[in-house]
Amino acid sequence: MNERFDGELFDYLWHLDQDLILMPPQAAVEAVRSDTLLFAMLGVSALIVLLVAVLITWFCLRYRAGSNADRGHRPATKNRHRLELTLALSMFVIFMVFFFWSVPVYLDLYRGPKDALTINVVGKQWMWRVYHPNGIEEINSLHVPVGEPIRLRLTTQDVIHSFFVPAFRLKRDAVPGMYTNLWFTATKPGTYRLFCSEYCGSFHSRMRGRIVVMTQADYETWLTRHGSVPSPAAAGKQLFQAYGCSGCHLGRSSVRAPSLAGIYGRPVPLADGTTIIADEAYLHDSIVRPVKHIVAGYVPIMPSFAGQIPEGEILKLIAYIKSLEPGDWEQGPVQRSDQ
Ligand code: CUA
Repeated sequence: MNERFDGELFDYLWHLDQDLILMPPQAAVEAVRSDTLLFAMLGVSALIVLLVAVLITWFCLRYRAGSNADRGHRPATKNRHRLELTLALSMFVIFMVFFFWSVPVYLDLYRGPKDALTINVVGKQWMWRVYHPNGIEEINSLHVPVGEPIRLRLTTQDVIHSFFVPAFRLKRDAVPGMYTNLWFTATKPGTYRLFCSEYCGSFHSRMRGRIVVMTQADYETWLTRHGSVPSPAAAGKQLFQAYGCSGCHLGRSSVRAPSLAGIYGRPVPLADGTTIIADEAYLHDSIVRPVKHIVAGYVPIMPSFAGQIPEGEILKLIAYIKSLEPGDWEQGPVQRSDQ
């Protein structure tokens, strides 16, 4: 047994007490909502099971062979129908109550509040990389303030991973070439476990991390502890030049490429006659799969950068493009009226 494995084993045994608990801590608004629903459903199911079990036992004893129970007076057909109808309708009502209770719980997992703090997370064999909006980066660790809605925007560098936080009762797949979202509001300061819950290769089991929920004051201190880090947009600007994007998109070169200043959030007319809103997914696609959406009036000459730019750097390029205002590039990319 080599030393590294020994360390892993020790780490595993050390955390075993946490692994064996029946219920993980309840540390987010979402956890409370799904637990309440789950226990209500379990409670109603248990009551029905109990009722059926009691009736079975009672009938078995009462109508056993040789008992002197009255078997002659069966209820009238009309009364039987009324009983059946009552049972069916009450089941329907119970199911509808759970339906209307659970739909908002489920939907809210897919459309969180608009003002949530967005943090980018990139899965990679075999680690989680976290990109905070102010430029701080973390590996296998995510620091968040308590009581504030957080939106995690997930993607992955290679295969499908799954971001799983038992204490929040939340799990969402990170899919290559796609941004998926996960919202939560932590309710209790503390350290919670983060897992990858999608088999993603030999060291899938080691793809673990921690979520550190801090009080607002501690979080502020934590943010300042990192000194000044360049913002994602500033880092993106450097990359924009380093990868040669500026060569074509800045409009100085002879190559005609669409202007990017102020493009974010605006509709873009495409060559096939449709329009698309320039959101993060569109910008991501345009970098790794430029032929997917050809802008009207342009030739598909841009090479694909798939596999050449790490996802973390694509996030920064997108942050830079988002930060551009119309007219930011005075030297001006070629205007569409020049055609
Ligand atoms: Cu990543 Cu399993």
